[in-house]
Amino acid sequence: MGSAGAAAELEALAQEIRAHKGAGCGFEVCETCTQLVPGVGPASAAIVIVGEAPGAKEDAGGVPFVGAAGKFLDVLLAEAGIARDDVFITNVVKARPPKNRDPKRDEVAHHWPWLERQLAIISPQLVVPLGRHALARFAPDARIADAHGAVLEVGGRRLFPLYHPAAALYNGALRSTLLDDARALGRALTSIRSTRTRGL
Ligand code: URA
Repeated sequence: MGSAGAAAELEALAQEIRAHKGAGCGFEVCETCTQLVPGVGPASAAIVIVGEAPGAKEDAGGVPFVGAAGKFLDVLLAEAGIARDDVFITNVVKARPPKNRDPKRDEVAHHWPWLERQLAIISPQLVVPLGRHALARFAPDARIADAHGAVLEVGGRRLFPLYHPAAALYNGALRSTLLDDARALGRALTSIRSTRTRGL
């Protein structure tokens, strides 16, 4: 698909996700959120970053990762040498759970097809699950403590798990691990790109 076609398809999907608010599906997250938050970024993104679910700021603004965790995500992307405008950022669950509780299994199953469709349109080189909850959705057997900061191939998909930036806001050691991992993410992307350029 041409890039204009992919961009139009991604935008049509975003509109479908937003229009789900008020559809009367009966799931608490979809009914109680202010709005669904599809995600942001170009269809040509080499990297898709996947958090767990929107928080209060994201619910109010309709854009993922704009609160404190999002500010640290910006620092991590800068450390990786990656522009925020070049990545697609979304969540497993597109609606804020009440009081920021963990999404329930059936809510994840309800929203997961949207993420699969976003990934099919974008076809990124790396998917970056943030934190153990997002990682568990892609790789149920992996542990974030073992898998963070390196490429992990699962089911034909290339993951690069990171700790969730929110976890580092209260944990200085995790902060420096995340900064190290962000630099490793930048190197992994460079290496994938040079392999593709050489046609390997
Ligand atoms: N945490 C997440 O997992 N996602 C967001 O969009 C914001 C905070």
